[in-house]
Amino acid sequence: MKVTTMLSSYSFLLFVLLISANPYARALQEGGNGIEEELEDVKRSDFPTEFLFGVATSSYQIEGAILEDGKSLSNWGVFVHKNGNVNNGDTGDIATDDYHRYLEDIETIHSLGVDAYRFSISWSRILPNGKLGGVNAAGILFYNSIIDNLLLRGIQPFVTIHHWDIPQVLSDEYGGWLNPLIQDDFVHFTETCFKKFGDRVRYWVTINEPNSVADLAYERGKHPPGHCSPPFGNCSAGNSDTEPLIAMHNMLLAHAKASKLYREQFQPKQGGVIGIVVHAIMYEPFTDDEHDKEAVKRTLANNVAWAFDPLVFGDYPPEMRRYHRNELPKFTPEERLLIRDSIDFLGLNHYATLYAKDCIHSSCARSDSACAPGGDRAIGGFVCTTAERGGVLIGEPTGLPIFSVVPRGMEEIVDYVKNRYHNKPMFITENGYSTPPQQEQVDDFQLDVKRIAFHKAYLAFLARAMRNGADVRGYFVWTLMDNFEWSLGYDVKLGLYSVDRATLNRTPRSSAKWYRNFLGNISSNSMQPRTAAAFWSKVGRAEE
Ligand code: FCB
Repeated sequence: MKVTTMLSSYSFLLFVLLISANPYARALQEGGNGIEEELEDVKRSDFPTEFLFGVATSSYQIEGAILEDGKSLSNWGVFVHKNGNVNNGDTGDIATDDYHRYLEDIETIHSLGVDAYRFSISWSRILPNGKLGGVNAAGILFYNSIIDNLLLRGIQPFVTIHHWDIPQVLSDEYGGWLNPLIQDDFVHFTETCFKKFGDRVRYWVTINEPNSVADLAYERGKHPPGHCSPPFGNCSAGNSDTEPLIAMHNMLLAHAKASKLYREQFQPKQGGVIGIVVHAIMYEPFTDDEHDKEAVKRTLANNVAWAFDPLVFGDYPPEMRRYHRNELPKFTPEERLLIRDSIDFLGLNHYATLYAKDCIHSSCARSDSACAPGGDRAIGGFVCTTAERGGVLIGEPTGLPIFSVVPRGMEEIVDYVKNRYHNKPMFITENGYSTPPQQEQVDDFQLDVKRIAFHKAYLAFLARAMRNGADVRGYFVWTLMDNFEWSLGYDVKLGLYSVDRATLNRTPRSSAKWYRNFLGNISSNSMQPRTAAAFWSKVGRAEE
């Protein structure tokens, strides 16, 4: 369906009325946080001119065409076809068919007025054997066309090299991220990307959420290869206490090698920046007890700093080294040098805030069903994390289990990262709202008032963190259109556009119109073309 840029006067009036009833603004007023004005008023011009606003997607979640034009199967392409792995038996075989509709999708992205589009590259579309050589020309053509078409419309490609879909052949051959052999294969993949696309790409993310891969694939068994052990689940293979640590170790070293290659051989000429993206939940103490406050620090280290500390400081967080014994892999002195300072920016995917409860000084009985399993073990940092306290949720529920709406968490997580990493440049590489299924009728599927309120509220807190000095360079809405939400399939919907599963037609929701209006509301001064010049001068690397 063609996107119309004008709202009819009736729906516009309805839209304004509903927006002014912003439920999070009301909640905050009641809670007395004192930023209601900012919440109602957050504007594009509250952010710096060069700040990048965008939308984000990933290859397996949107492309489909899983075996077309020379592409080989990815781990996800295989995993989804095993019974019980995905809700309703959904698969990404077709997904949103972006492989065939990408030009329409780029038009849609353009119509939003965004500065950047974050998308990922399917490893098995570029290197069907997973390894050096055997580059698939059709895959290169596809991503070249995306990049060129974005740039033609003034949109910066913000490229995630790897967003969870590894070639299945690498999993079969040596066990994927569990084997150090994957580090060099990953570097070959990134080298191919830098060579083929790097002349036009200024923003590179090596890996999306290594901490989620470790957690979901190797601790909880929800993602391929579906490894876990009790009490995390009953998988046919795996060890939840050790495999997540090994997988993370290989991902961090793979990143560091790719980053070294980029910086030595490509960055001086191409002038881009390279970073990594972490799943960054915020935590608040379950009680005022000092032990729960310590638990907050421990779980932040165990989740966020687990990936960022090595890439900034050269080793795992001291908080983790303290309670892990031999199972935490060690970096050799050479590896420490390699890994240290191997990112130009920190990417945060922030969706939610949870309570953290200490499990060292008090017992986190398994019978406490509100706690995620494993809090009583080292791999869980001896912390029980939960979205509820005394039967009351920390925020309004969303369609994603454990993700509640807690806008203040945005400011808190940004402050945490700012303080721990000396205000290194950050991007909010994902933030988004999934409509709870029961609300789809009431809240209306298309008139997604709560999604708008969510982004307004989170952006207001982001703006506040930035006014207090946080160096944040961009914000990406997850996601452009409803897509394959991993093991939850298509039931969970986060799109600014809905996608009809029968026709695959895209239809803008109210939030798409809101985003377009928000992005259009800029002073003439901030209409100047955005360059990354300010970024380069700060990170001290090549000028654009
Ligand atoms: C993030 C993933 C992204 C999407 C959102 C909802 O953790 O990076 O692919 O699934 O969650």
